[in-house]
Amino acid sequence: MITPLIMAGGVGSRFWPLSRKDRPKQFLNLVDKDRSMIQATVDRISKLTTHDNIFIATSQEYVEKMQEHLPEIPSENLTVEPMRRNTAACIGLAALYIEKKDPEGVMVVLPSDHLIIDEERFLDTVQAAVEVAEREDNLVTIGIEPSHPETGYGYINYENKYSEVSGHEVFEVKAFTEKPNREQAERFLQAGTYLWNSGMFVWKVSTIRKMFEMHMPELHEGLERMKSAIGTTEETEVLKAEFEKLDDVSIDYGIMEKAEDIYVIPGSFGWDDIGSWPALERVEKRDKQGNVIRGHHIGIDTKNTIVHGNGKIITTVGLDDIVIVDTEDAILICDKKRAQEVKEIRNLLKSKG
Ligand code: GDD
Ligand code: MG
Repeated sequence: MITPLIMAGGVGSRFWPLSRKDRPKQFLNLVDKDRSMIQATVDRISKLTTHDNIFIATSQEYVEKMQEHLPEIPSENLTVEPMRRNTAACIGLAALYIEKKDPEGVMVVLPSDHLIIDEERFLDTVQAAVEVAEREDNLVTIGIEPSHPETGYGYINYENKYSEVSGHEVFEVKAFTEKPNREQAERFLQAGTYLWNSGMFVWKVSTIRKMFEMHMPELHEGLERMKSAIGTTEETEVLKAEFEKLDDVSIDYGIMEKAEDIYVIPGSFGWDDIGSWPALERVEKRDKQGNVIRGHHIGIDTKNTIVHGNGKIITTVGLDDIVIVDTEDAILICDKKRAQEVKEIRNLLKSKG
């Protein structure tokens, strides 16, 4: 059985001030005007399976909001992390609930912060990945042709062709490098034998459990203790105690950089990670001056600027390459080239109380 697991416990701090601790990125309508990112992700994958097979991983603080956004998902399919410990722990915990339901299940792990344009082609690629994952203990990723030396992604060095599945080429992965530095990223781009990791993974639940045992033994042992507690009166208490002890490690560093038997299927469905404000330029049509305007804006000599309003008229004179975001209680005015640094604003605000 195909079991999608949607990871939706991040904060999306680079979308401050629209994203907040109590309103993280997955609950924002960043791409579609009438759907949040998490709703769009569920709608997309619902075409492959029924709602009662879709699992959502989030942390305790977002459970209520998740239920509001996704009333169609049974509440027992929310896998709830007592605290944030990154995607390895998130996938590990979800795997426990999924294996209980179906020990033979194939997990389709999806982030909740992506734009996908050609949904049919995307679903077809996922199905090919499921076929490869069902063979042996294969870990399968979907790769994206890189267009620039992005340092915020994982890079997959692919090598020999392994197979062809329903018209999709499948390659062996030689090496996986998570978030390289600028020089490395430039080298990877020039080499022409690298793909971006889309952050979407397909594997049997039994395979990923073995991988945790092999490459993250401490997490594995913690998971074994949690497994014994699930369904008992001690579940909440044991999960909390075990999570507290875990390191903050993403699946990319914890498993993908270390494991063998990884295969990649290049995906060509129009993909984007909606990671920071400049992503809106790739989602929305720019005006003649290259501006992306959401809301009411009047500008003189304003170009390449992103304006996200909140009801007020925003007026600008002589701006180039700026991001302006107005919300009820906070305003961001930022050099677009430095939009990645917006995430640090949250730390500054915290330290100022
Ligand atoms: N439940 C849960 N718990 N979800 C989490 C947690 C957590 O502790 N941390 C992150 N997530 C969710 C986020 O909400 C997002 O949907 C997804 O997991 C990926 O996390 P990001 O923080 O967005 O990762 P990234 O974009 O920096 O990097 C990943 O994705 C890139 C492509 O978008 C990596 O897999 C990269 O290798 C990849 O290139
Ligand atoms: Mg992301």
